[in-house]
Amino acid sequence: MNNKKLKEQVRGYWNKASCGTEFIEQPKYSEAYFDEIEQFRYTIEPEIFSFAQFSRFYNKKVLEVGVGAGTDFVQWVRSGAIAYGVDLTEEAICNTKERLALQGLEAAELKVADAERLPYKDDFFDLVYSWGVIHHSPDMEQCLKEIVRVTRSGGIIKIMVYNRHSLFAFYRYLLCGLCKGRPFAKWGDILFEHQESIGTKAYTYKEIKKMIAQHPVALRLMQAPVTNHDLLYYKSSFFKCSAYLMACLLGWHKVGWFMTIELEKQ
Ligand SMILES: C[S@@+](CC[C@H](N)C(=O)[O-])C[C@H]1O[C@@H](n2cnc3c(N)ncnc32)[C@H](O)[C@@H]1O
Repeated sequence: MNNKKLKEQVRGYWNKASCGTEFIEQPKYSEAYFDEIEQFRYTIEPEIFSFAQFSRFYNKKVLEVGVGAGTDFVQWVRSGAIAYGVDLTEEAICNTKERLALQGLEAAELKVADAERLPYKDDFFDLVYSWGVIHHSPDMEQCLKEIVRVTRSGGIIKIMVYNRHSLFAFYRYLLCGLCKGRPFAKWGDILFEHQESIGTKAYTYKEIKKMIAQHPVALRLMQAPVTNHDLLYYKSSFFKCSAYLMACLLGWHKVGWFMTIELEKQ
């Protein structure tokens, strides 16, 4: 499948439901709907706060790439950032606009745009933030190139991409590879076919370091601590204990599903 067709499928997938909205039973766009999305997200993924550091970017120009249902985007606006947001889908932009309106908040700009061709001039933002987005785009390297381009020199880039050598990726292999009679399937192929939208990629530290080396950036942080997803938060105690033990044995800060990366543009 070529990249254009793949991107249409990615768009189609996320246009059906933005990330984190699929299980919400409250009336769409109501206060209860957004409250439930937010409560669920930060209960399961509390690490977002220490990574994003929303309140550090007061009065700074921040771009969020791939706003989804807008839960993090609202934090940027609440924290007083001059917040710009883009997403590939109308669904995400509608969710985020409705949310801002309901809370009486205003963003600098919110629009549909492709991370592979960001509609901003060079060196424009103090911070570019993107959580769980660019690995869904057919050309992730192009997304990174664009993110670096629009960040000012001395500005910060914070991105989260999936870690292929993680406990969560291993569970996906067990479920969609081994249990389906494909013991020799590669983990990357399993994730490409079965993790959220088609074409999802997950990376190793080495691959990311190689990619980063091609850009004028300094690596300030790269880690993948174990998350609730790796610890099977929705399973019985037996599975949770086994996951916990594996995490301790393999390295708590290495085998998490979320690889968080912070860069400074030179
Ligand atoms: C897993 S969701 C994450 C959304 C949000 N950052 C969050 O954490 O809830 C992936 C999002 O990436 C968006 N996306 C995928 N490819 C994109 C691209 N090339 N440009 C902009 N957004 C993209 C999708 O539309 C979707 O909203």
